[in-house]
Amino acid sequence: MGRSLTDDVRVQQDALLGWATPRLREFVWRSTRDPWAVLVSEVMLQQTGVGRVIPKWGAFMEAFPTPRDCAESSLGDVLRLWQGLGYPRRARNLHAAAGVIVREHEGEVPGSLDALLALPGVGAYTARAVLAFAFEYDVAVVDTNIARVLARLQGERLTPKRAQVAADELLAEGTAWLWNQAFMDLGATVCRPVPSCDECPWFEFCAWRGEGDDPAVGSAGVSVPQGRFEGSDRQARGRLIKALGEGSVRMKDVPKVMDRPRDVAERLVSALATEGLIHLDRSTSTIHLP
Ligand code: ADE
Repeated sequence: MGRSLTDDVRVQQDALLGWATPRLREFVWRSTRDPWAVLVSEVMLQQTGVGRVIPKWGAFMEAFPTPRDCAESSLGDVLRLWQGLGYPRRARNLHAAAGVIVREHEGEVPGSLDALLALPGVGAYTARAVLAFAFEYDVAVVDTNIARVLARLQGERLTPKRAQVAADELLAEGTAWLWNQAFMDLGATVCRPVPSCDECPWFEFCAWRGEGDDPAVGSAGVSVPQGRFEGSDRQARGRLIKALGEGSVRMKDVPKVMDRPRDVAERLVSALATEGLIHLDRSTSTIHLP
């Protein structure tokens, strides 16, 4: 008699867990189950590589060990600590999320999918990451690494819904913490954009196996290479926020601080103000962190 489908999934699960157990990468946030610490790490990791997150996560947790510490600080203080991580909207959302956690959840990060999804800046990935990595609930997360692996396993581009269903079906019950970290590590170290299929514990389960067009390209959740940073709006915005971390900036100095023409600088300042990331003081013609 042939192996049943369930047996096949079990063999596949064991292959990943067996591969990962001696290899799991050690990160400081992997040694905590504090939901706030996990939430902070996952928000930082949304768009920033682990190397840059490691020191920032430590400094952030020291400054804001609880949601209440964060909520009671100014957004400016949070943005100052965020310096170097980029995408400061995440800092604004995290600060706002801390406020919601204090007001609506008695200062404790909630442990339900719906309540997590209702927090600013928390989407399907981050909500499930908190459930799996802090609460150790049996949920499957789909980050960019996992999305790439899933598309290749299935040999086709996946919609977000199908990627989540595929991840849910593979999840080894009762092991969600290890399972999801292992899955991520497989994507981050073996099933990379340019894969090392000869090292893959899932080679025999893979529809793609590195041959022909990569099904991960254009599949839901798989990141595309970022545009150039040099010369970007992101770079100019970052320069202003960094300068503001040291003190207020006069409006007339913004083009110099950003190293951009006046019209570009004005457009960026007005967008930053609308997003609540800077505060314009019209009476003194200066800009501050909020
Ligand atoms: N990227 C997103 N979450 C991560 C985690 N928990 N460990 C390593 N890299 C990650």
